[in-house]
Amino acid sequence: MRFIRVLPIVIAFSILFGAAFTGLVIAPGFTSTVARTPSVGLVAYSTTEARGRHIYVREGCVYCHSQQVRNVKADANLAESFGVSKAGDYYYDLPHLLGTSRQGPDLSNEGRVWRREIGEPARDYLIGHFINPRDYNPNSIMPAFDYLSKQELSDLTDYIQSLGAWKDNVPQQEET
Ligand code: HEC
Repeated sequence: MRFIRVLPIVIAFSILFGAAFTGLVIAPGFTSTVARTPSVGLVAYSTTEARGRHIYVREGCVYCHSQQVRNVKADANLAESFGVSKAGDYYYDLPHLLGTSRQGPDLSNEGRVWRREIGEPARDYLIGHFINPRDYNPNSIMPAFDYLSKQELSDLTDYIQSLGAWKDNVPQQEET
């Protein structure tokens, strides 16, 4: 008797779970916005950039910095300067660091702001800013990452300078 009463509940939960699994896990794999190919010009992370990315994850930079330019009014300025982010831009990213909060600026194009071609001054600025943001921006709420080793600061800088830098390889007309 008891079994008969429980059975419909078990069946109902199975259906519910099955529907949720299909909708949330299986179906997204078939959507067109899932990147199966990297964006044109995108290059995989170098060894030092990958190490820097690991530090970025470990230090929780993602809690204050987003890495996405959305197609919404609030991002109009970013979109005009750098273009809207596409799924393929994140082809090599795992875990994803899109971020949901902007306590600080969006960093998805930071490598086009502090370009590699600038050379030492750009690196010196980024490293100095990691060590103590207040030296450059007295009101900054960004923590001082002064406990990172020289190597870690250098790797982190390589990573930050890689963000969006690859977009410069792309001829204008291929930007969609
Ligand atoms: C508590 C929030 C917070 C955290 C955590 C944080 N930041 Fe920031 N970040 C900010 C704010 C606010 C600014 C803008 C003010 C400034 O320039 O310091 C900023 C600015 C920056 C800039 C832009 C500098 C410039 O002038 O172009 C970079 C690059 C940066 N952060 C990288 C990082 C990295 C890498 C980490 C992790 C190691 C990190 N941030 C962690 C809040 C944060």
